[in-house]
Amino acid sequence: MSTAHPSPNPHPNPHYARLGGHEPIVRLVDAFYRAMDTLPEAAAIRAMHEPDLRATKSVLVSYLSEWMGGPKLYTPSRGAPALRRRHQPFAIDGAARDAWMLCMRQALQEVCTDDALRAELDAAFFKVADFIRNTEDGGHTRPHPGRPRALQPEVVAAPHRSQP
Ligand code: HEM
Repeated sequence: MSTAHPSPNPHPNPHYARLGGHEPIVRLVDAFYRAMDTLPEAAAIRAMHEPDLRATKSVLVSYLSEWMGGPKLYTPSRGAPALRRRHQPFAIDGAARDAWMLCMRQALQEVCTDDALRAELDAAFFKVADFIRNTEDGGHTRPHPGRPRALQPEVVAAPHRSQP
């Protein structure tokens, strides 16, 4: 057997393709922040963000494109995601995580009609959201949970490529 052939892509059908590419990601992010703007449960996490969400939306679109196995739009401009470090300025406890997930679940309901894909994305988003959680309920700092092996592509059901 020749070694000249590249090894087969371990993730031939990443979430990016299954969701439908760039345009649905833009719609997902729009729906996500619309939910954050309107759901009373999300008021506390909305207050962590700037009033004008345009820049934040564009960064999240570029991150999700890469995270779902599509074009690498994030790291060339912003570097390694290091999401836990980037979220350190905000006190993110279980309630904040759950509010974030509520918004994302509503957005997924609106944009992703494939039940299996929606369930996979839900589980994968939850792992990242819980990894980002830096505050215990009651206000104590939550220590870093360790290297996020459980978030690596082979471990999450999803074919994500980059670490959060
Ligand atoms: C757990 C609850 C979460 C809260 C409360 C939260 C909140 C925030 C806030 C306040 C910002 C700053 C926005 C800005 O600078 O305009 C931010 C940035 C960001 N968040 Fe979250 N977030 C959460 C979870 C997540 C998750 C699960 C993901 C990814 C799946 C994510 C991805 C990002 C990205 C990519 C950025 C921009 C990072 C950069 O500056 O390059 N966040 N988040």
